[in-house]
Amino acid sequence: MTDNGPILVTGAAGQLGAVGRTVCGLLLDRGLPVRAMVRREDDRAAALRALGAEVVVGDLLEPPDVYRVVSGCRRVYFSMSASAGYLEATLTMAVVAREVGVDGLVNMSQMTVSEMSTQNTTSSGQQRQHWLSEQALAWSGLPVVTIRPTMFLESFFPLAAPTVGARGRIEVPFGRGKTSPVAAADVARVVAAVLADPGPHLGRIYELTGPRSQDMHGVAREFSDALNREVTYSDIPAEDWERELKKLGLPEHLTRHLVAMGELHRAGRYDRLADGVERVTGRPAISVREFVSLHADEFGGRRS
Ligand SMILES: NC(=O)c1ccc[n+]([C@@H]2O[C@H](COP(=O)([O-])OP(=O)(O)OC[C@H]3O[C@@H](n4cnc5c(N)ncnc54)[C@H](OP(=O)(O)O)[C@@H]3O)[C@@H](O)[C@H]2O)c1
Repeated sequence: MTDNGPILVTGAAGQLGAVGRTVCGLLLDRGLPVRAMVRREDDRAAALRALGAEVVVGDLLEPPDVYRVVSGCRRVYFSMSASAGYLEATLTMAVVAREVGVDGLVNMSQMTVSEMSTQNTTSSGQQRQHWLSEQALAWSGLPVVTIRPTMFLESFFPLAAPTVGARGRIEVPFGRGKTSPVAAADVARVVAAVLADPGPHLGRIYELTGPRSQDMHGVAREFSDALNREVTYSDIPAEDWERELKKLGLPEHLTRHLVAMGELHRAGRYDRLADGVERVTGRPAISVREFVSLHADEFGGRRS
């Protein structure tokens, strides 16, 4: 391990939540050296370089790439977009981090893992892989900190922005299930705080939710307040949702994960409240209303 080496942030380019990208900025703001791992050279890589990060290109499923990017780093944030090879990537990272030596590995997981066991799994391959990954990391003996956020508020961009913009409706099959989505920016603040000083957090698991657990009618009311126009919730049949998701051309792994997320919402499994954001950062998580206000244009704009 290199005591004064950079902090490695994987998945740094950013797709949906872009937690890694935000973490890079927050660590650089604190004056900490950052190595940002991306999959390819593109505008996102250039933007990270412009921020002051050392940008390295590699594939988390390729052990030589992972060895190259971890070498010389003192600690690691491990995350990548939801994908079929998640467990393999986690194990590759664990093997390399053990060989190279790090003083902290912050692992992105999911809130659903809190309720999973051999007798109680879910039909989402992504959630199952997070559950197995957490256990493998625990066996590894590495100095791990586990981050378990619930659904990101950013998920509403692909799942709700088109219908909220077009007809003022959130159309998802969540029934009367309650949910407490959390902003990826809040998740990133937690990750950055832990990476800056992992010592007090080692071995801990942080569950992260937004400030309120409510059904989708409540969520729609917060959308209405933020956009100053009526937004309602339509509980659509799960089969219709699956058909719409398939039209988006997402990878099968992600489509199946989203279908499972809908089922779990219906079953009340997303009705959780946790104070991890405030506990770690000293600031409460932002609400649906605050999030939608910040991104009003993406949801079709605010009526004046
Ligand atoms: N979305 C949610 O509601 C939610 C809730 C709880 C937990 N999570 C967890 O959060 C994580 C995703 O976080 P996020 O939204 O911040 O990620 P993200 O922005 O969607 O993606 C991060 C980056 O991972 C990169 N990546 C994918 N496969 C890779 C590979 N094989 N090698 C190197 N890089 C790779 C992608 O690169 P390219 O862009 O170049 O392809 C992407 O930019 C997942 O573990 C997910 O399960 C998500």
